[in-house]
Amino acid sequence: MKIDIRRLKKSLLRLAQIGAVPGGGISRLALSDEDKQARDLLVGWMEESGLKVNVDQMGNIFGRRSGSRKDLPPLLVGSHIDTVRNGGKFDGALGVMAGLEVVRTLNDEAVSTKHPIELAAFTNEEGARFQPPMLASGVMAGIFPLEWAYSRNDVNGLIFGQELKRIGYRGSVPCRPRPLHAYLEFHIEQGPVLEAEKVPIGIVQGIVGLRWLRVTLEGESDHAGPTPMSMRRDALVAAARAVEMVRGIPRRMKGEMVTTVGFMQVQPNVVNVIPGRVTFTVDLRDRYEKRTERAIGMVKSGIKTIALQEGVKASFEEIFKSSPFLFSKEVVDTIAQVCKSFQWPYRMLMSGAGHDALYMAQRTKGGMIFVPSLKGRSHCREERSSWRDIEKGANLLLHSTLAIDAQ
Ligand code: HGY
Ligand code: MN
Ligand code: MN
Repeated sequence: MKIDIRRLKKSLLRLAQIGAVPGGGISRLALSDEDKQARDLLVGWMEESGLKVNVDQMGNIFGRRSGSRKDLPPLLVGSHIDTVRNGGKFDGALGVMAGLEVVRTLNDEAVSTKHPIELAAFTNEEGARFQPPMLASGVMAGIFPLEWAYSRNDVNGLIFGQELKRIGYRGSVPCRPRPLHAYLEFHIEQGPVLEAEKVPIGIVQGIVGLRWLRVTLEGESDHAGPTPMSMRRDALVAAARAVEMVRGIPRRMKGEMVTTVGFMQVQPNVVNVIPGRVTFTVDLRDRYEKRTERAIGMVKSGIKTIALQEGVKASFEEIFKSSPFLFSKEVVDTIAQVCKSFQWPYRMLMSGAGHDALYMAQRTKGGMIFVPSLKGRSHCREERSSWRDIEKGANLLLHSTLAIDAQ
């Protein structure tokens, strides 16, 4: 039994038309009109495949395929369909489309599984518009309270709970931990490892620790002309020095730590006004908790020193924190056995990106399958994976689902 790669490709490229921006990127930010259109398309496909569709309080969409044993909890196969701004076609969408393809293949072959199979699309995985990321899988895993999640706002002050209602996906099914047999997620690697080693499959051992900080530097807006350099309290100069310092931390920490300043707001952002206030984010990731803690301390003390020297005030808000996490050995071993049975070369690796699996696998045994990203690129319009690798990965998802269903 194998998946139909043409059908999977057709669905993924159809989904990729929603939110497509000139130049080839995809902008399908959580709870946007594009997100709604994509959700409607997915729900239609789920219903065509005979799935019972449920939408929970956080807008998570579940398409349930019954199993032969009504008393058994479902096996979830999922990912997300929201994207970053100018993101790629594959991040998240591949996992949901491949899960749909698994269901379609089981239907074609009239295979009945013991456990119900639920295809899941989680809301706001990216955290690009509403922080934190993995917000809705986090509520489902009991990590974030529902009301707190509803109160999140975006840079324009729009509120999560209201936006969810506006797009018609604030469901009534409780979003909270429930009995699950297992969780599987198929995803692109989003890094260079598999391609560099020419290995078509990655079996994910776990996810590195992630920390997101929001930093605000308060200086003084002033006239860019008459204000002498000695009298300035320029928040953007301080921010520029802070960005350089943050970039230098991984070099001082050794290992594979990464730091990124990806978002910055300059106020008033006018050509002839000295910037009085700058807000920016720091994204720091590492596989070791202690090293992460130390590095966060260095980020904060480094910024405080710069603020003092530049005569600005620094404040910090921790907007996301997750510890390094390892997936269930049973699931990792099962995926490896299936790989071996097909003689597909694979490699174990940690994920440098966060995924809904981070939270789902805290509630049930979980695991992930990666396929190589061409040139390691992701979160950009160049994001690509080869359909040959995708076909292997989706077949591995199909047979891993069957193997775990039998457990
Ligand atoms: O940030 C991440 O790692 C994920 O893409 N949300
Ligand atoms: Mn993703
Ligand atoms: Mn992503």
